[in-house]
Amino acid sequence: MSVLYRNLVRPVLFLQDSESIHNRTLRMLAFAAHHKSLRALTKAIYGASEKPLEVFRLKFPNPVGLAAGMDKFAAALPIWECLGFGFTELGGVTWHTQPGNEKPRMFRAIPDRALINRMGFNNPGAEAMARTLAEWKGSGNWPKHPVGVNLGKSKTTPLEKAAEDYANSFRALRDYADFFVVNVSSPNTPNLRQLQEKAALDEILVALQQINTAPKKPILVKIAPDLSFEAIDEILDLATQRQLAGIVATNTTIARPQSSDQKVQSIYAQTGGLSGAPLRERSTEIIRHIHKQTAGKLPIIGVGGIFTAADAREKLEAGASLLQIYTSLVYEGPAIVKTIVAGLR
Ligand SMILES: Cc1cc2nc3c(=O)[nH]c(=O)nc-3n(C[C@H](O)[C@H](O)[C@H](O)COP(=O)(O)O)c2cc1C
Repeated sequence: MSVLYRNLVRPVLFLQDSESIHNRTLRMLAFAAHHKSLRALTKAIYGASEKPLEVFRLKFPNPVGLAAGMDKFAAALPIWECLGFGFTELGGVTWHTQPGNEKPRMFRAIPDRALINRMGFNNPGAEAMARTLAEWKGSGNWPKHPVGVNLGKSKTTPLEKAAEDYANSFRALRDYADFFVVNVSSPNTPNLRQLQEKAALDEILVALQQINTAPKKPILVKIAPDLSFEAIDEILDLATQRQLAGIVATNTTIARPQSSDQKVQSIYAQTGGLSGAPLRERSTEIIRHIHKQTAGKLPIIGVGGIFTAADAREKLEAGASLLQIYTSLVYEGPAIVKTIVAGLR
């Protein structure tokens, strides 16, 4: 199936601009998500085998989840489990509706199996997202696997008011999702990554935990691969104090690999975060570091450059409990989850 996708479908899709094809695919998946027969067909073709596990008191049918950024509007929510995913992370969502950065803002470096994006949190805003999630709940088609929401900061909110911005989104969405990810690591909102600094992050986590009343929702922090181990250790200091459920490692990187290919070089000159194969090693290194520093006690969602079962196993062996993919879904097509999960058994 992946061979068919790679040799027949992908070349046609890749003739089009990266974001246009993303939007078209999402519309198709959203259509399928609304129709029982199409959901059943998708599941029959792409559904993954069970490899159940429990992490932060949630039950996952398998460890491979959809990474944040793919379904920012929750437009296709029920389809992701039909595509074999063991969990879905929706968003990034911000308190205010935002259009994101000017287009073009998503680029493919095909020979390197990488993407660069500077989307800048284009999203409907937390309240609109809550309404969409309420509709999915009401439809009876809510997925059986855990659903998380990735929270970002609105561009117009100054850094000093960040805690309030995250708290507003969390309050609006708290009842709908099973877990939340505080995203302080996107390179595409000016200065956002300064919120990874201990005092600033602490303020956000305090604000969230204050309104995280029973039943308490697991709250994780997503970090950048560009942090030093010392900076990561500062974040880990907050884990116990602020009852973090885990760390998502990692977001995209602002670093660029070497390339002798001129086309790739021109893509790498674009501003934004790099994802995909070139991110794999650094992300695994960070997972290994967190696992060591926390003596394996803090759950880690490993994300960055997972294309194969071997890549997935590498991250699990480094200490990740759960995994996520984004870029490999674009490059390898919809059979990828099933293939990875089968390879993990
Ligand atoms: C187009 C695009 C949009 C993304 N948007 C978000 C986002 O809103 N929030 C977030 O935390 N991560 C976002 N990410 C990062 C991914 O969730 C993931 O951490 C990163 O792409 C590395 O995984 P991958 O190599 O499997 O793609 C985005 C990635 C891409 C390519």
